[in-house]
Amino acid sequence: MTYTKIAVNKIAPHLGAEIGGVDLSRPLADDVMLEIRAALAENLVIFFRDQSMTPAEQKDFGRQFGELFTHPAAPQLVPGHPEILTVHADANSKRIDGENWHSDISCDIAPPMGSILYLTEVPPIGGDTLFASMYAAYDSFSPEMQRFLCGLTAMHDGERQHGGRFGSKTNAASEHPVVVTHPVTGRKALFVNPIFTTHIVQLKAEESNALLQFLYLQTQRPQIQCRFQWRAKSVAFWDNRCVQHMALWDYFPHRRHGHRITIRGERPVYLAA
Ligand SMILES: [Fe+2]
Repeated sequence: MTYTKIAVNKIAPHLGAEIGGVDLSRPLADDVMLEIRAALAENLVIFFRDQSMTPAEQKDFGRQFGELFTHPAAPQLVPGHPEILTVHADANSKRIDGENWHSDISCDIAPPMGSILYLTEVPPIGGDTLFASMYAAYDSFSPEMQRFLCGLTAMHDGERQHGGRFGSKTNAASEHPVVVTHPVTGRKALFVNPIFTTHIVQLKAEESNALLQFLYLQTQRPQIQCRFQWRAKSVAFWDNRCVQHMALWDYFPHRRHGHRITIRGERPVYLAA
């Protein structure tokens, strides 16, 4: 893809690119949006620096990719904006969300297509986010292993992540294919993660546990990852359908603060090629 409206600078071979030449607080022309969509499809996660967005402006940007999703479990801390998920850690924090590999809310029957995180406060050092390409994870398997995985489904349960902290608001459990076909690119991506996936439906418990551990080892290889170093006023926009991520909490007791919006997706499917 040749870009003429935006600058696209890849930060790793399999995924991740910094996008320049865009002010996300302003309405974006159709040709700019076209290139941002293409950059997301090509790079799986895209980053923007030096942005200033109000909650309403962040929502306006997100709505150009689909309907916004209101998180079923998180407390709503921005008055008038229930779609804004506040991401915050400081010296009083006992834990943070997303410290292990996952795609957001994969327990939902139709998990979000993407998430847009905007940080306004970052620690002096640390607090990076890691991203991994689930296309690259799938592509790394032998054809026979790929055939085996494509015939399987797995349960994803929100209770594993949210259980007990937010009452009974988020007990969603859904069965999804272990390999999903991306609705835009048509590529196949591995779709199991250690935060939400409980077991593979067609296998015995021991088989399921062993296979999931093997798959997680593959998905967590540094070779298929990128690592984003935040600065204040940076934005990360990741595609949950083909990317997993994890947040590093290596900056305690420092503050890290921002707003996330989440864009609705479709029910994941596997389409035989
Ligand atoms: Fe997350």
